[in-house]
Amino acid sequence: MQLYIDTANIEEIRSAAAMGVLDGVTTNPSLIAKEGVDFIDRMNEICDIVSGPVSAEVVATEHDAMIEEAMPLTEIAPNIVIKLPSTVDGLKACRTLSDQNIRTNLTLCFQPLQALLVAKAGAFLVSPFLGRLDDLGQDGMELIQQIRTIYDNYGYDTKILAASIRHPLHLVQCAMIGADVATVPFKVIQQMMNHPLTDRGLEQFLADWASRNAPATAGAH
Ligand code: G3P
Repeated sequence: MQLYIDTANIEEIRSAAAMGVLDGVTTNPSLIAKEGVDFIDRMNEICDIVSGPVSAEVVATEHDAMIEEAMPLTEIAPNIVIKLPSTVDGLKACRTLSDQNIRTNLTLCFQPLQALLVAKAGAFLVSPFLGRLDDLGQDGMELIQQIRTIYDNYGYDTKILAASIRHPLHLVQCAMIGADVATVPFKVIQQMMNHPLTDRGLEQFLADWASRNAPATAGAH
């Protein structure tokens, strides 16, 4: 499973990239707004750090305006992926961009038929939002399973990018179902290598090693 970071924060991106396991980045208008920075400048900065796919989202809601907004974004770097909403206009824009070999990420996917249609329109990525479905008392993971089955049934190349990940258990379940990619907040990436027994075991190993090498105490036989 590929691992993307879901943030527009440069320090978080640098830290995750330094772990050596980061495959890409997703941003959205809310994440950019939270940073209070210029959108294009920030996308350039991110692409200087990460060579894998970096999603940049349009805010236009109508096909022609989406394309107009997308084209300058594609100039930022070759690894920019255009993020579009899973609406009818987003679907049309996906087809237009796919026909020009421009990669797209169809976001805000909440039901399997949206995923079916965006795959038919040539999307590079589809982003089902797990956590936001869970928030409504629906099973977000069931959506990932449904999309996996549909894509496997018909051999669609679109990659399933599990989004709105809230905790490590989401990632375990996504990996078992076979999501192609997960985009993960920095806090959850940090949790992925954590276990209290690892810390306790390491502490014990180091303490035992230190005592083994300790110089013999005065008077010892
Ligand atoms: O980037 C899209 C998605 O991951 C948002 O997650 O936590 O705002 O539902 P969240």
